[in-house]
Amino acid sequence: MTPKHIAVIMDGNGRWARRRGLPRTAGHAAGAEVFRKIATYCKDIGVEHLTVYAFSTENWKRPEGEVSTIMQLLEKYLAEAIEKMERDGVRLRVLGDISALSENLRTLIARTEEISRRVEGMQANICINYGGRDEIVRAAARCAEDGVAVTEENINARLYSAGIPDPDLVIRPGGETRISNFLLWQSAYSEFYFTDTLWPDFTPRELDKAIAAYNKRERRFGGVK
Ligand code: FPP
Repeated sequence: MTPKHIAVIMDGNGRWARRRGLPRTAGHAAGAEVFRKIATYCKDIGVEHLTVYAFSTENWKRPEGEVSTIMQLLEKYLAEAIEKMERDGVRLRVLGDISALSENLRTLIARTEEISRRVEGMQANICINYGGRDEIVRAAARCAEDGVAVTEENINARLYSAGIPDPDLVIRPGGETRISNFLLWQSAYSEFYFTDTLWPDFTPRELDKAIAAYNKRERRFGGVK
């Protein structure tokens, strides 16, 4: 069965570039291309949601040049998506605190999300200035502001991901086996797949392998079989 929602921590861009004697930023550019290919593949095989971690609340600590390259890649991707979204059948949503982003990026995000409302097809969720803890804290604070009880349902409805089903499968390429503040709430019952392949080397075949591994797992959601 194809998972309905796949989430990916796009890790290993920097190492991929270094191994080729290139600046780290070249790894992010290669990573953005791979995201494009994997999103198209996900759409073709019937995935409903693909969520990727593009920039975390902690990534601001990186050198200024690297941060601005990632922001430029996101701007480029969103600007191109505006042109092609209706034709490609991929909707876009951005998850994270976008208030810290440039005005240009915020305008592009607003425009892509507006077009997405009339497009049918797979949804790509791009996490930008996203942190799982930050998201949960904000949702709890919003419960208080709204004067509602802090329940799972009320938190869920106030997360950046409100309305998006929880990920079935979380993939982390790049050899590390940690969650790095990604979808902490949503991945409570997700299956995890780790691979040493660096994100810029990740292919649709590798995704097939992750899905095959996922299909061998027995999901019990805390119950018994
Ligand atoms: C992690 O690899 C990757 C990032 C922090 C940035 C991911 C961003 C992109 C792929 C570009 C924009 C995305 C889209 C959706 C257009 P790393 O730099 O930590 O790699 P390393 O562990 O090898 O150093």
